[in-house]
Amino acid sequence: MSTPKPKIRVTRRLPEQVEARLSDLFIATLNPNDIPMTQAELQAAMHGFDVLVPTVTDRIDADVIAAAGPQLRLIANFGAGTDHIDIEAAHKKGIVVTNTPGVLTEDTADFAMALILSVPRRLVAADKLTRAGGFKGWTPTGILGRRVRGKNLGIVGMGRIGQAIARRAHAFGLKVHYHNRRAVPPAIEKELQARYWDDLDAMLAEMDIVSINCPSTPETHHLITAQRLAAMPAHAVIINTSRGEIIDEAALAEALASGQIAGAGLDVYENEPDIHPLLMGLPNVVLAPHIASATHESRIEMGEKVMINIRALYDGHRCPDRVLPSG
Ligand code: 8YV
Repeated sequence: MSTPKPKIRVTRRLPEQVEARLSDLFIATLNPNDIPMTQAELQAAMHGFDVLVPTVTDRIDADVIAAAGPQLRLIANFGAGTDHIDIEAAHKKGIVVTNTPGVLTEDTADFAMALILSVPRRLVAADKLTRAGGFKGWTPTGILGRRVRGKNLGIVGMGRIGQAIARRAHAFGLKVHYHNRRAVPPAIEKELQARYWDDLDAMLAEMDIVSINCPSTPETHHLITAQRLAAMPAHAVIINTSRGEIIDEAALAEALASGQIAGAGLDVYENEPDIHPLLMGLPNVVLAPHIASATHESRIEMGEKVMINIRALYDGHRCPDRVLPSG
């Protein structure tokens, strides 16, 4: 006897082939208009469906989890980060939470690298100048940036994405440093030729470029404070492709505006989609709309991971990408 197909609720529009396959495998309710669901709609979905497939734009808080009916077995997140989901509350209710790790690592690292290059070399400012008709022929002093080769890159958070950035950074002649809760195993450290700093403050004071790659947790909220920004060298640039909450965004905007640090490349913000108004007007900042993992390939592989996790659970297996509460 075959088990009935689970009823799944997908909160945002996903690539066409992912939606088609989800609809083949499950009884899928999609969101063709792509309008983010309200908290009330999310709560309603929690007692109308067996599986919720949310994204980073959904706030799956304790109230949403509390609304879950007994049929709701799985929250299969379309994305790697799960800071928008109350994992503890889900776990207590016996709801499995899964994510899509691994498949967006390389694309996110590519994008971080693009920011690492484009901020010191002023690529976006140069593009703006050219389009505005400002290119009047070569000059010896026009749009001078800072050399990347030979500089110190400090990676905050040496997980999958941090490691993928470290591998790329060597090809550009960067010296790789990192801060993490604990050092990575010696074999990985050796392969990455990366120096571990237990003391974040000590590392920040020596870095030319800092890349934020740790997850957003209560411990990493505003990890980069006004004081830490003030202690960085004036020529330093900061890159964030992780989560906006890790940097005090108002303090960052002030530090950039006052010249306390030289530049920033940001893909994520504290209150997405809002961006601190001061940042919007600064020429030494590259602002991207949370697209570090946005490739056709990664979105399809993320969809595949979602399907594998749902199928595993309903076939009576352990979900491969289960996320458990920390601690
Ligand atoms: C995703 C991300 O695009 O996976 C993550 O955690 O931040 C993004 O790169 C987004 O989360 C999709 O939900």
